Amino acid sequence: MEKIDWASLKFGYRKANINVRCHYKDGQWGPLELSDSEYINMHIAAACLHYGQEAFEGLKAFTGKDGRVRVFRVDENARRMQLSCDGILMPQLPVETFIEAVRIAVAKNIEYVPPYGSGASLYIRPLLIGTGPQIGVRPATEYLFIVFVMPVGPYFPTGFQPTDIVIYRHFDRVAPQGTGRYKIGGNYAASLMAGEKAREGGYSAVLYLDAREKKFVDECGPANFFGIKNNTYITPLSDSILPSITNKSLMQLAEDIGMKVERRPVPVEELPSFEEVGECGTAAVISPVKRIYDADLDKEYLYGTEPGPWSVKLYSKLKAIQCGDEPDKYGWVTIVEPE
Ligand code: PLP
Ligand code: COI
Repeated sequence: MEKIDWASLKFGYRKANINVRCHYKDGQWGPLELSDSEYINMHIAAACLHYGQEAFEGLKAFTGKDGRVRVFRVDENARRMQLSCDGILMPQLPVETFIEAVRIAVAKNIEYVPPYGSGASLYIRPLLIGTGPQIGVRPATEYLFIVFVMPVGPYFPTGFQPTDIVIYRHFDRVAPQGTGRYKIGGNYAASLMAGEKAREGGYSAVLYLDAREKKFVDECGPANFFGIKNNTYITPLSDSILPSITNKSLMQLAEDIGMKVERRPVPVEELPSFEEVGECGTAAVISPVKRIYDADLDKEYLYGTEPGPWSVKLYSKLKAIQCGDEPDKYGWVTIVEPE
């Protein structure tokens, strides 16, 4: 394997050794297969290519001080992929198959798991696509599930340093009764235009409002939203946002460190009242926000140029569990042994 400078890794694709695949045909999932190819051979009429029948996941593995490799909350990702499958009429992959495929993908690429303390992690990308030919708009009859991995650094180049985010009322990522709660490629295609505009303006992400009324905060392009005030962790309740596993974990950790937790609609007018604001997700971890710019109203809300004290506590708690520095009292971590 080539030598990797772990500390300067960005969030990007890099080839590892092996990926894991599983085909669905004639109404059933086949055995897990290993491949060293980065390519797939696919029918030109595959449903995923034309009608976006595709779901994906994202999770991470970390090396602990003890040298052991830990995968964070893999069962949650397995179940969320099943919900995405229900959402766009793909056959559910059994939870055990998902977990085993992730285990193998990590074990076979164990030298790509960044060392303890490097600040990097192994990003695991499972995806499920409709591969059967379908030229009418109908679900495919054949599918392919793949898990591949790569070592990554922080999603936002600034890491834990606060960034600016932006509200655009003239862009929606998902529809009110659409697919926002599923992790499917189409939602991300729909976010590209606003996302690039935000990047050009120097923002780390777009903060989407509810598409129906633009009255409530939904989430960011690649991460959930949280705000903190009066010792309370507040995060939007909405059926058009992704149920983030990081956010679910942070809600638990917030309670554990003595905060109150509120999951409820968050009106836009509440934004100025937060003491701390952040984006959270597997790739984003916690990315504190220093400024929200509401582009249509030309208003800005400021939250400080350094990460706030609660965000720092939550971030260190989460990292400590992921790396095995703190006991895993909720059973969130799965150890992967080298093979
Ligand atoms: N929201 C969106 C739109 C995402 O793409 C992600 C990333 O997975 C998240 C939220 C965070 O979810 P999780 O914490 O499960 O990674
Ligand atoms: C993740 O956090 O795993 C994601 O899938 C976000 C993605 C947009 C990079």
